Amino acid sequence: MSNKQRLSQLNEYRKKTRQGGGAKRIEAQHSKGKLTARERIDLLFDAGTFEEIGTFAIHRCVDFGMAEQQYAGDSVVVGYGRVNNRLCFAFSQDFTVLGGSLSEIASRKICGVMDLAASSGAPFVGILDSGGARIQEGIDSLNGYGEIFTRNTLYSGVIPQISVIVGPTAGGAVYSPAITDFIFMVKGLGQSYITGPDVVEAVTGEKVSLEELGGATVNASKSGNCHFVYENEEECFDGVRSLLGFLPQNHNESPVTSDNYDDINRQEEELIDIIPDNSAQAYDMKKIILKVIDNADFLEVHQKFAGNFIVGFARFAGESVGILAQQPSYMAGVLDIDASDKAARFVRTCDCFNVPLVTFVDVPGYMPGTDQEFRGIIRHGAKLLFAYAEATVPKVSVIIRKAYGGAYIAMSSKSLRGDINYAWPMAEIAVMGPEAAVGFVNRQEISEAKDNKETKQRLIDEYRERFTNPYMAAARGYIDDVIAPCDTRYKLIKALQMLKNKDITNPPRKHGNIPL
Ligand code: HXC
Repeated sequence: MSNKQRLSQLNEYRKKTRQGGGAKRIEAQHSKGKLTARERIDLLFDAGTFEEIGTFAIHRCVDFGMAEQQYAGDSVVVGYGRVNNRLCFAFSQDFTVLGGSLSEIASRKICGVMDLAASSGAPFVGILDSGGARIQEGIDSLNGYGEIFTRNTLYSGVIPQISVIVGPTAGGAVYSPAITDFIFMVKGLGQSYITGPDVVEAVTGEKVSLEELGGATVNASKSGNCHFVYENEEECFDGVRSLLGFLPQNHNESPVTSDNYDDINRQEEELIDIIPDNSAQAYDMKKIILKVIDNADFLEVHQKFAGNFIVGFARFAGESVGILAQQPSYMAGVLDIDASDKAARFVRTCDCFNVPLVTFVDVPGYMPGTDQEFRGIIRHGAKLLFAYAEATVPKVSVIIRKAYGGAYIAMSSKSLRGDINYAWPMAEIAVMGPEAAVGFVNRQEISEAKDNKETKQRLIDEYRERFTNPYMAAARGYIDDVIAPCDTRYKLIKALQMLKNKDITNPPRKHGNIPL
């Protein structure tokens, strides 16, 4: 064969690799409303920047007629390119090849590109659309999953890892995404469950559809497995690109600074009107967040899960921050198990990638009741304390209104190494609310009073006047300043700029042991 013939042979081979499982299967993929592995890669990466590797890899299984079912590249496309003009690695499972099932070679391709991402210090995105372990290969496939889980774990906190679930992800295969930092799903396409509806029915008698069991909506709202849910793949990959824009390339770097931001000195006079004068009334904390951040650009994480707590990314003067806040308009912003899990995870995600934390506090306390106690509010609530206390990134907070008891401590307080702690003038900082405190401290006085209703109210008013304000905490140095709401943006930016080079380390140890 001449050199020219070899070249045209290469071109022929390459053309074939791009067809995956063939035209018919691509058509079937499209008819299900799904994009192909390569079309997804095109949506993720900046145009023309993707470089594929492992293009000609094939499996070596001969059982069950597999010798006749070979496709160059096997069931996954892997490689690297640029996202927002920064290096990024990815794999994209190709459902047109044996249902995207994970073969030994597919897992080796995925592991290889994960190793490259970690050693090059760049994020890694996995696009999942697979029938799970390649049944014909048996143990080799299972070993492949284990190799992937190990890398997900070892590279956790080293580089950002993102999973995009746009097809089936079943059984043990769900655990790779579950170990990564963020999971994206598309409604109607992504499915994630440990056992499918048939097994569920056989074992428990429950009848449930695939979508009800493991669709994007339930994973986003009920289980909290999924962080972002989208209507279609285009919006989903836009979301991934946007998220990567808030994160650094790896744990040694800071997120990139944007120079597109609005006036640092912007005064927001309407902020004070968002909070009702009656502190028992609810309001929407998101309105406050949107008014103080750059360009009202907020990427909310876990939006559909634990609505009493808000987490997400924003920027102040172009610098990426993680925002944490109660949502008083949902269950009064109480801290329960799900909110604690959601918040603690987000604090740790930001901390490992050098994203400063900005916390807005309006918390009546931890959720009471046997349901929460029996399910472990102590253990789950402890995660939040642990996460804030161990975090070494800049930590700035504003107490907007309520900050009571243990929940006050949990929310980035001075005692958990909060760097700058502000409060608005309507802040109420105390061990417990006035009603509960008076009922406890003045129990005897109230029961002995002739007009015990009026006495109780008088005592409540006195308690409120004396204790439920920010000045006692400020007098003791637990609050650095009481600020006018309209100055919040400016004050936060100044504090974050002052803390930009903050450098503290935790005591040497193998690793901490967060309550799980
Ligand atoms: C080999 C597979 C496969 C698999 C699908 N295919 N899954 N081949 N191993 N795991 C093949 C199908 O045989 C079919 O080939 C083609 O891919 C497309 O599959 P369809 O069934 O036609 O597609 P669809 O109707 O969309 O259904 C998708 C599906 C279904 C729901 C994922 O394929 C399915 O149930 N697959 C098996 C799922 C499973 O039990 N996997 C093992 C789980 S255990 P042909 O040539 O017929 O068109 C596991 C353990 C992991 O994964 C443990 C990790 C720790």
